[in-house]
Amino acid sequence: MSRLVVVSNRVGPLTDTGRAGGLAVALVDALTETGGLWFGWSGEISEEGSFGNLKQAGTRKVSMTTVDMTQADYDEFYAGYSNKTLWPVLHYRLDLAVFDRRLEDGYRRVNERFATRLRPLLEQDDIVWVHDYHFLPFAAELRGMEVENPLGFFLHVPFPAPEVLAGLPNAATLVRRMLAYDVIGFQSRRDAANFRRFVVEELDAVETGDGELAVGGQRVVARAFPIGIDAAGFARQATTPEARRQTGRVEKLLAGRQQIIGVDRIDYSKGLPERFRAFGRLLDDYPENRGQVSLMQVAPPSRADLDAYAEIRRELEELTGNINGRFADLDWTPIRYMTRSFTRRALAGLYRASRVALVTPLRDGMNLVAKEYVAAQRAEDPGVVVLSRFAGAAEGMPEALIVNPHSAEGVAASLQTALNMPLDERRDRWQAIFDRICENDASAWADSFLETLRETGRQRAG
Ligand code: UDP
Ligand code: G6P
Repeated sequence: MSRLVVVSNRVGPLTDTGRAGGLAVALVDALTETGGLWFGWSGEISEEGSFGNLKQAGTRKVSMTTVDMTQADYDEFYAGYSNKTLWPVLHYRLDLAVFDRRLEDGYRRVNERFATRLRPLLEQDDIVWVHDYHFLPFAAELRGMEVENPLGFFLHVPFPAPEVLAGLPNAATLVRRMLAYDVIGFQSRRDAANFRRFVVEELDAVETGDGELAVGGQRVVARAFPIGIDAAGFARQATTPEARRQTGRVEKLLAGRQQIIGVDRIDYSKGLPERFRAFGRLLDDYPENRGQVSLMQVAPPSRADLDAYAEIRRELEELTGNINGRFADLDWTPIRYMTRSFTRRALAGLYRASRVALVTPLRDGMNLVAKEYVAAQRAEDPGVVVLSRFAGAAEGMPEALIVNPHSAEGVAASLQTALNMPLDERRDRWQAIFDRICENDASAWADSFLETLRETGRQRAG
């Protein structure tokens, strides 16, 4: 059996420390199954950067090897091109994107540097799986270093419509470099179709069926592999003493009232201001909920040294103040907004105490929180998911109440439906989603991607 080598910017932690971010969570779930080497950034900045010593950590099964970045790498590659240019463009926000040649050069440089450090660690039979928008051209760098191993890529975030991506300077060059991968995986069918259309329209590729593209003598598979969670494991977490303690604390506080929960890194893609306004609209349009229903929003800060992120945080504080000021009563606070983070085990308990999950990103690759909420519910009395149509999760969860996050009126109406949904209907909808997320869990996701990669890699070599 070949060894799996996973590459991503964030590496670990392998334990549930409560650091938010879907990529690390999903990779821990998948890698603990398969075992292998996990390579990426140490999270540290140093003068030597990626020229410094390799750092080793992990377990016998999953070994983590990381390198530092220099301050310039951090500014240009991580904060810069990855998060000021690619993140907004991939989330359909050309208006927020910064286009600067220096950042683009830094991105290229760090991809080349990280590939150079990984190269000597690779063995002949390894299969290499690269993750997320930080490393779109990584395979092109490795192929330039005569690496012949199967190279796969998975994009955790959306891939936008070609009309949007075309606004990124040098988009075609960047996408052409992605074609050095054997298999490119996306969260949803829509994302995969957007990618294929870009390659056909801008790079003269031909679709040869079943997600395959032929371009200049090369063959690439570009297909949806929707990511899963360890659903059974997460369901068990919801009954641990730590989770029960959190459920008990919240239920005591609610004293028979109902709670809606949101859990998101503070990010403009998550639609948090729109969500708070929709909750305000619920209290306006359906006044029977005043004093009866509250919104708990867990919102750990993310990428806080970027202006766009600091800005959204200010906006959220102001909105919370406005809505609470307007509606709060002596014994009831409408929005409980917390910027601390929780372990996933504690979150499992909070999900269980909440009648509704409000998951309303303006764009999201998948959104694991929606799946975790479902996994954590009590089968005999489950809650309801109100889910944005723009989250990848919506493709696999038609039984959720699907909403347009831009419509405060529509979201408020769906919240009202969710809060009043009869038990039978809640059970039916929950069961259908729960069965599906158990079947399509984290290990099924990794297996199906890696099987495709092995097969495609074999055909290329042969
Ligand atoms: N998360 C966490 N603690 C927190 C908030 C979030 O562990 O306080 C986890 C959450 O359980 C989920 C992940 O962070 O597994 C967020 O993934 P998602 O796909 O929802 O969004 P992303 O952050 O990747 O955009
Ligand atoms: C999303 C991205 C990941 C990223 C995570 C946290 O899930 O898809 O690649 O790791 O957000 O963001 P950060 O910038 O802190 O790594």
